[in-house]
Amino acid sequence: MFCWLIFLNIILLSDRSESWSAREVIHQFNHDQQLQLNIYLDCNDVELQIGQEVSNLFVNSTADKMKILGRFSSHSLIIACFKDSTRNRTLNGVKELLWGLQYLPILFVVDSNMDFYFQQALRHGFIHVLALNFMNGSLYTYKPYPKVEVHQIKDMQKFYKLTKLRNLQGQAVRTTVETMTPRCFRYRNRHGQLVYAGYMYRMVKEFISTYNGTEEHVFGNVDTVPYKEGLAALKNGEIDMMPRIIHALEWYYFYRSHILYNIKTYIMVPWAEPLPKSLYFIQPFRGTVWITIMVSFVYASIVIWWIRYRQQGNSSLTQSFMDVLQLLFQLPLSKIWHFNMGTHQVVSFIVLFVFGFMLTNLYTAQLSSYLTTGLFKSQINTFDDLFREKRTLLVESFDAEVLHNMTKEKIIQKEFESIILITSIEEVFKHRKSLNTSYAYEAYEDRIAFELSQQRYLRVPIFKILKEVYDQRPVFVALRHGLPYVELFNNYLRRIFESGIWIKLQEDSFLEGIASGEISFRKSKSREIKIFDKDFYFFAYILLGMGWCVSTIALFLELWSFKYSVTNVLHEG
Ligand SMILES: *[C@@H]1O[C@H](CO)[C@@H](O)[C@H](O)[C@H]1NC(C)=O
Ligand SMILES: *[C@@H]1O[C@H](CO)[C@@H](O)[C@H](O)[C@H]1NC(C)=O
Ligand SMILES: *[C@@H]1O[C@H](CO)[C@@H](O)[C@H](O)[C@H]1NC(C)=O
Ligand SMILES: *[C@@H]1O[C@H](CO)[C@@H](O)[C@H](O)[C@H]1NC(C)=O
Ligand SMILES: *[C@@H]1O[C@H](CO)[C@@H](O)[C@H](O)[C@H]1NC(C)=O
Ligand SMILES: *[C@@H]1O[C@H](CO)[C@@H](O)[C@H](O)[C@H]1NC(C)=O
Repeated sequence: MFCWLIFLNIILLSDRSESWSAREVIHQFNHDQQLQLNIYLDCNDVELQIGQEVSNLFVNSTADKMKILGRFSSHSLIIACFKDSTRNRTLNGVKELLWGLQYLPILFVVDSNMDFYFQQALRHGFIHVLALNFMNGSLYTYKPYPKVEVHQIKDMQKFYKLTKLRNLQGQAVRTTVETMTPRCFRYRNRHGQLVYAGYMYRMVKEFISTYNGTEEHVFGNVDTVPYKEGLAALKNGEIDMMPRIIHALEWYYFYRSHILYNIKTYIMVPWAEPLPKSLYFIQPFRGTVWITIMVSFVYASIVIWWIRYRQQGNSSLTQSFMDVLQLLFQLPLSKIWHFNMGTHQVVSFIVLFVFGFMLTNLYTAQLSSYLTTGLFKSQINTFDDLFREKRTLLVESFDAEVLHNMTKEKIIQKEFESIILITSIEEVFKHRKSLNTSYAYEAYEDRIAFELSQQRYLRVPIFKILKEVYDQRPVFVALRHGLPYVELFNNYLRRIFESGIWIKLQEDSFLEGIASGEISFRKSKSREIKIFDKDFYFFAYILLGMGWCVSTIALFLELWSFKYSVTNVLHEG
C-alpha cells in the first residue's frame, strides 16, 4: 500500500513538474520491469541518492572490462554517468558491459548534448535508452528510425511505447546472398529474372518485409563469399545478417540470434554395388543352412534305406535317395502309396513332406523378395567401414581445418585424416550436387537432405547417409555486433521456428531447388532390366552342367564295372 502511494506520488509529481530525479527514474524502472540489479557505471562522484530496493553494483570503466552476460542477472538496469571528458570511455564501458544484451534498459545521466549520446546508442544497438539531464531533470528518449528523433518523456508508459521497435521505417538491412544450398541460392527464372531462394534467405526476407525494412545485398554477385573477406566485413559491421549456418568462431567477428537447435553433420557414402544376378540362387539361405539341409538329406536317405532293409531284407540306397529327394523338394509323379506301406513309411512321409513344404516355400519367398528389392554387396554402415574400404572423403579447406581440430581434440577418429582429399569449395559443391560416387562427402543434415532429395523417385538410391554423427553445430543467424533490432529479430525467429514455418520453408526450398535446376530428380536406369535374364540362370546352368558331367561319369563307371563283372563271370564259367 505504502509503495503504491509512493508511485502515485511520483507519477503525479512528474506530471506536474516534468522534472525527474535519477532516483525516481530508477525506482520506476525497477518496479515496472521487476529488475534484480542496478549497475552504476562511472557514477562514483555523481550525487544520485541511490536507493536500496534492489542490489546495486558499482563499476568503473577504467577498471577491468567485464560483461554482464553469463555473470550477472540479465534483469538489470544500467546507469551510466557521463562527463564530457571521459564520455567515449564510458560509452565503451557500456558497450562492453552489455555485450550480447543490448536490449536491456539503460539510463544515461548526462549534462548536455543529447543528440550525440543517442547517435552513439543507436550505433551500439541500444534501443531502450533514457537520458536524464542532470542539470534540470528533463528526461529524453529516442526513436531510431528513419533517423534519430529525440522525445521528451513525461510519463514512463510513453517511454515503453516509444522504444518498442516495430517498424524499421525503410532502414536498410544488409544481408549476404551467397550460394549455400538449401539455405540461400539464386537462379534465373523462365522470365530471365534473378530470383533468390533458400529457407534461411526466405526467412530473413520475410522479416525485412514484415517490419518494413529495405533489403540490401552485400557481396551481391559472388557465389561464395571468401571466408577472410566475409569475416572482415562482418567484423566491420558491413553485414547485418547472414542467412547461412556458420561456426561460432568465438563470437569475435559477429554475434548471433537465438540458437534454434543443434544441427548434425553426417557423411554420405555411395550405395553398395549390386550383387551379380547369378548368385541370387544361393542367397536365400546361409551356408550353415545349406549344410544342415544336405546333412539331413543324407541322414534321411540312410535311415529310410535302413528301415526298408530291416523290413524287406533288400533295399536300394539309390531308391531311398530318390524318394527323399522327391518328398523334400515336393517333386510330383510319386508312384508310392505311403499309406499301404506301414507306419514307418507314413511317419517318414509326414516328417519329410512337412519339412520340405516349409523349406521350399521359405526359399521361394526369399528369392522372390530378393528379386524385387535387389541384392547388394556389403554396405558401408560405420566410420570404420569407411576407413577399411579406404573411401575418399572430399572436403574443402575450412572443413578440413575443423576436422583437424576435432581429431586433435579426440572428438572423432584420427583415421579421418588419412582419407580426406582437400579441394576448393566449388569442386566439392559440384561433385556432391551431381552425386558423384567417386567420393564420400560430409555436410549438415539440411544440405544432405536437399541433395539426396534428388533420389526420391529412385528404387535404389545412389547415396546413403551413415547413421553415425560426424559433427554438431548450433544453428543461429549471424548478426552484426550491436544490431539495434536483435530483440525484434529474435522474437520473429522464435515464432517462425515454433510454428513450424521453418520446416515448411525448408521443404519448399527443396522443391525450389528442383524448379531452379539447381538439383534434379534422378530417373532409375538400372531397374528396368529383366529379372529373369541369362545372368540370373547362369548359376543354375553351371549346376545342371556339373550334374550332367557327374552322371555321365557315373554312367561310364557303371558300364565299365558291369562289363568287368560279366567278363569275370565268363572267365569263372
Ligand atoms: C574510477 O576511476 C577514477 C579515474 O581513474 C578514479 O578516480 C576512481 O577512484 C575509480 N573508482 C573506483 C571505484 O575504482
Ligand atoms: C569520441 O568519439 C567520437 C566518435 O567516435 C569522436 O568523434 C571523438 O573524437 C571522440 N572523442 C575523444 C575525446 O576521443
Ligand atoms: C533542460 O536543459 C536542456 C539543455 O540544457 C534544455 O534543452 C531543456 O529545455 C531544459 N529543460 C527544462 C525543463 O528546462
Ligand atoms: C515503411 O517505411 C517507409 C519509409 O521507407 C514509410 O514511408 C512507410 O510509412 C512505412 N510503412 C509503414 C506501414 O509503416
Ligand atoms: C582450430 O584450432 C586452432 C587452434 O586451436 C584455432 O586457432 C582455429 O580457429 C580452429 N579452427 C576452427 C575452424 O575451429
Ligand atoms: C566424378 O569424379 C571423378 C574424379 O574426380 C571424375 O573423373 C568423374 O568425371 C566425375 N564424374 C561425374 C559424373 O562428374
